[in-house]
Amino acid sequence: MWYKIKNVLKEILLKINPIYRTVQSNKNQLDCLFEIENKNKLMLENIIQSNKNQLDCLLEIENKNKLMLENIIQKNNYNNYQENAPSIQNVINIFDGQWASKLPLEGVTSGGIGLFSDNRIKSWNNLCPVKNKRILELGPLECAHTYMLEKLGAASVTSIESSSQHFLKCLIVKELFDLKVELLHGDFREYLKNCEREYDIVLASGVLYHMVDPIQLIHDIAKAANNVFVWTHYYSEERTDINTQFDLEPIYLTEKYRGYKQYYGDTSNCAKFYGGTHPYSVWLKKEDIFSVFREAGFENIALIEDSLSHPYGNCVTFFANKNIKIKKA
Ligand SMILES: C[S@@+](CC[C@H](N)C(=O)[O-])C[C@H]1O[C@@H](n2cnc3c(N)ncnc32)[C@H](O)[C@@H]1O
Repeated sequence: MWYKIKNVLKEILLKINPIYRTVQSNKNQLDCLFEIENKNKLMLENIIQSNKNQLDCLLEIENKNKLMLENIIQKNNYNNYQENAPSIQNVINIFDGQWASKLPLEGVTSGGIGLFSDNRIKSWNNLCPVKNKRILELGPLECAHTYMLEKLGAASVTSIESSSQHFLKCLIVKELFDLKVELLHGDFREYLKNCEREYDIVLASGVLYHMVDPIQLIHDIAKAANNVFVWTHYYSEERTDINTQFDLEPIYLTEKYRGYKQYYGDTSNCAKFYGGTHPYSVWLKKEDIFSVFREAGFENIALIEDSLSHPYGNCVTFFANKNIKIKKA
């Protein structure tokens, strides 16, 4: 019996032994492989960690692009058929949720801002009546001021709007109120650069602080007219509460003037964006705005209002005109 067991054990040992030897001889190689695997794991972790920021950035860009695309699709959704009976509300609803102004139409729902009865237009008109004047309006948005200028008897109004969305809303307002305005779709900076037409008044309301080069705009306005109506935000160090993202360091626009870069950020993607054509704009300080207007020839500046409590930043309303020198005979 014992002899049998011994033989079996011997047989097992004989079988195990080569396996044991093989394992033993491969152990070093296996240890090596383990070490390599651990090193690779560590390297992979390092690569993932060091690329995490880039990945996060890419993810953020992708999200922004998605949002932009959604907005574009929403804004260009013109294939809707209207099945209600024809009405003005149907027309307004083409840009549902995108109107800023409250249209002066009984029973019609549009935006909430009273731009069609704006006190700023009334104040400018008191200082420089628009009746029988040729007016160039920069950035009409929804032609609310245009409507008021025509009601006040302007001889002609030319309005230039660069946003296609706002331009189409302007066309709707022109149609609804039978405005005579010459409505142009394009960039008013390009228009002013080559402008040979003369105007009596330039209306620059809500546009100066949307410019990358506000100084250039002021000089170009000066070439087009002797009178200018201005409403604009201006940079003020005291307004640390406003939600606008400014660069910490000002930039030199000229040797004399500094500008403060502000970025629109995500607001430029929303349906109610009323800003400029670039991802950022440059704000001037109030004294500098007046100084540049004077240098451009607008020697008389009548301040109408200086608001220090506007939620988006301090702003001024003023009228400026040139001292027209009459040539002696
Ligand atoms: C803040 S809104 C002012 C609207 C209106 N003028 C007011 O005072 O209520 C600025 C308008 O100017 C337009 N705009 C901005 N930059 C422009 C440019 N370079 N050329 C034409 N329109 C521009 C915008 O699309 C927008 O309609």
